[in-house]
This record gives sequence, structure tokens and C-alpha cells, in this order.
Amino acid sequence: MATVTIDYKNVTSNAVGPEHGLTEQELSVRLKRSGRLLEEMASERATGGLAFLDLPRQEGTVEAIGRFVERKLDGIENFVVLGIGGSALGAKAVYSALLPPFYNLLPKKKRGKSPRVFVLDNVDPEETGALMNLLSPKETMFNVVTKSGETTETLAAMLSAVELLKKAVGDRWRDHVVLTTDPEKGFLRQLARRENLATFDVPPRVGGRFSVLTPVGLLPAAAAGINIKEVLAGAGAMDSLCSSAAPAENPACVCAVINYLMDTAKHKNVLATMPYAYALKDLAEWFRQLWAESLGKKLSLEKKVVNVGSTPVTAVGATDQHSQLQLFNEGPHDKLIVFLEVESFRNEVNLPALFPEDENTAFLGGKKLSHLIRSEKRGTELSLLESRRPNYTIMFSEVSPRIVGAFIMLFEFMTAVAGKLYNVNTFDQPGVAESKVATFALMGRKGYESRTEDMLAKVNGVAPEGNTVRCEV
Ligand code: PA5
Repeated sequence: MATVTIDYKNVTSNAVGPEHGLTEQELSVRLKRSGRLLEEMASERATGGLAFLDLPRQEGTVEAIGRFVERKLDGIENFVVLGIGGSALGAKAVYSALLPPFYNLLPKKKRGKSPRVFVLDNVDPEETGALMNLLSPKETMFNVVTKSGETTETLAAMLSAVELLKKAVGDRWRDHVVLTTDPEKGFLRQLARRENLATFDVPPRVGGRFSVLTPVGLLPAAAAGINIKEVLAGAGAMDSLCSSAAPAENPACVCAVINYLMDTAKHKNVLATMPYAYALKDLAEWFRQLWAESLGKKLSLEKKVVNVGSTPVTAVGATDQHSQLQLFNEGPHDKLIVFLEVESFRNEVNLPALFPEDENTAFLGGKKLSHLIRSEKRGTELSLLESRRPNYTIMFSEVSPRIVGAFIMLFEFMTAVAGKLYNVNTFDQPGVAESKVATFALMGRKGYESRTEDMLAKVNGVAPEGNTVRCEV
């Protein structure tokens, strides 16, 4: 049976003391009050809001994706997602959790005949150039993903891809492109109509960072042979649980309340997610964006300036024990650490009993790597407790399509509850807009000419020329 268990004893005042930990009273009062927030969510949902919660029950998507994979990916060796933010991180998180490590290096037979999967989510010329040179265009499908259909980074990547295809296959470039975008709005939809390109829809009422369970995340996953029906089933089960359970038994509510109280009552304004399973690394990265963009807000719902939100960071166990743990243990008391752990790994490595005469290796001989990574996690947890650093653990029975779906829904639901606790609009991102406009202006987009001058005047005023250190090496 697939299970998710949240063990939060290490955030209590009993574990880390009253200055850094939550008392039973603090927790139970806030949990009780959040029952009202769950009711609010239920009534918003009943009137068409919070559409991401209904994605596990969307009709026809799995079948349409299945047909596309069967008909259009025959002979395709590379499936390349071109997107950014919510249009890239979810896809990456799902396939990297569920495909074998180093999947792209496996020979085709071992990949179950599915293509290799890449996500290009930046405009770095070296990375983009290298990937375009690496791919054989005839064997490549580009999935251009942008809900708005107008994101500069994604459109730039698409231009490079289409040029590559046109040079290699001429008019047949259209067979190597599939667009995932709004059903009606935006440049990409117009392009799809004009050029008769294959498309999938992003439901208009689902925001970018909540769109992983739409074709945004499901198409790349299915292309790589992942059972997306099971991903949705896991998400559906988690939604049913979070929508009906009382706050104290509700995993989304419990986590949201802990994260919120730790930030606002205990000054832990850094939220570090630390998976002790490499498969969950990109899920932690996906969550970082979800939490940051949803909750980092200037204005409350009543339009008062509040400047709220805790800063999400990621660390990977055991790797970052040799990197960030020193800071987590001895730096400022400003962090809450959330461990992600799995009970059962899909592969095991048994350590041989070599060099038994040497104490450095003797104690490892005959042990399993899963035992070592679990002990490392337990060791980190104990060291954090000793230095009175609050932490909690989300334990997954295994990493499977069902569990990944459940995890996604749990963290999305939790973020929505946290948005209510912070009293902000979880679903907008006004703070991103300014940099987009600045890029348009600097790149000479028509209509933005005056913005370039405004911006340069502003920047020059703030940081006068000359505050620079340049050295020859
Ligand atoms: O969550 C969001 O809305 C953003 O992170 C978007 O996903 C990101 O800006 C990309 O937008 P689009 O899908 O329109 O290209």
C-alpha cells in the first residue's frame, strides 16, 4: 500500500524548546482555526475556483496523450521540452523521480523504446547551442510549453529549434513540434492555427506553477513511458483526503500550519526542503518555485503592504551535509528543515567487506547503501535537534507514479492553505512582470522604447557608474 507519513515531533517545544518550537496549544489553536480555511476552499471550488484540485478527474487528457505518443513518437529518439518556470519544473520533477537515474544514457532497449527526455529552461547560449548540436533533428520532438504563449525565453528556444528542424527536414518541421498552451489565447495558439501544429491545452483556470498535472507535465512523462493514469490516481486520492479530513489529520493543513507558524511566530523564514533520495531532488526544486511564487507577496488580500513569505531553499541529503549543514546547525536560527525520505528504494547496493583490517571501511562491509543513507538522515536529524533546529519528515513508502501524484497534490494543497494563512493571493505573480518588461525594453521590442530610457535613468540614479571592481587574472 502506498503511504505518506508526516512525523512532526521535532517541531514541537518538547523537542527544540519553546523559543524555537511550537507548543501543543499553538499548534492546536491554529489547526482548529484552519478548519474555516478548508471550508472556504470547498466553497471556492464549488463555484469553479481552485481548478488545479480537479485535475485528477480531467476527462480525455490521458487518452489524447496516449494517442499522440503512439502515433507521433514512433522513431523519435529525443523528446525536448522548451519551457520555463511552471512550464518546465513540473515535467522535470515527474520524469526525474520516476525514470531510472541516468535514463538518457541508457540504450534504447533499456529505455523501453521511449525517447530520451530533455528540458531546456534557460536562454544560456552554451547550453542551448550544445543541445541543438547534440540532437539529430529527424529523431527529435520539441514540446514547446507556455501557457501564455508569449514567454520570451521559451519563444527564443522555439526559434532555434524550428530553424534546426527546417534545415534538416524542410516543411516536415511541423511533424516535430507539439505545442502546449492556452486553448484560445496567446501567440503560440495563433501560430498553431496558422501552421497547423499539434497542440495540447493548458486549462485556462489552472496557473502555470499548478499545471504539472495537465499536459504540461503529463505529456513529457507519458512520452518517457511513465504511467500517468497512476500519477493522477495518486493525486486524486490525496485531494480526496485533504478535502475531507479534519485539520489535525489533514497532511496539507498540518504542513501548512507548521510552515506558517514557524515563519510568523518563531522567525524561521527559511524553509529548506532536504530529500534523502536522489529521485526527489527535482520535486524539491519544483516545490521551491511553487512556494516562492505563490506566497512571496507584497500585498494582502485587502491590498495592505505586508511583504510576506518564507524563502524556500533546497538541499540534498547526504550530499549537502558536506555543504549547507554547517549553516543549518550553527548559523542563524532562521530555518525550518523539511526532510523527504523513502521507506523502500527501487535499487539496492550491497557494500563488500573489503579492507576489513581498516576501521574506516570495516564498519561498512556487508551493509546496504539504503542503511547508510537512512543513518545519515537520522544523524542529521539528531544533530539538528541537539542544536535546537526544528525539522520534520515526510516519509514516502516508495517512489512510484501514485506516490509522486500524491506528493504533488499534497504540496499544491498545502501551498493553497498557506496562502490563506498568509492572507495573500496565492495564484498571481505581479513581482515577475517588471523583469519581463525590462527584458522587452532592453531587447528592443516594439512599444517598449520609452521604457528603456526610463529604466536606464532609474538604474543610473540608484547605482552610479564607477561602483565596479575589475581585475586582470
Ligand atoms: O507559475 C507561473 O505562472 C510562472 O512560473 C509561469 O509558469 C512562467 O512564467 C512561464 O509562463 P508561461 O507558461 O506563460 O510561459
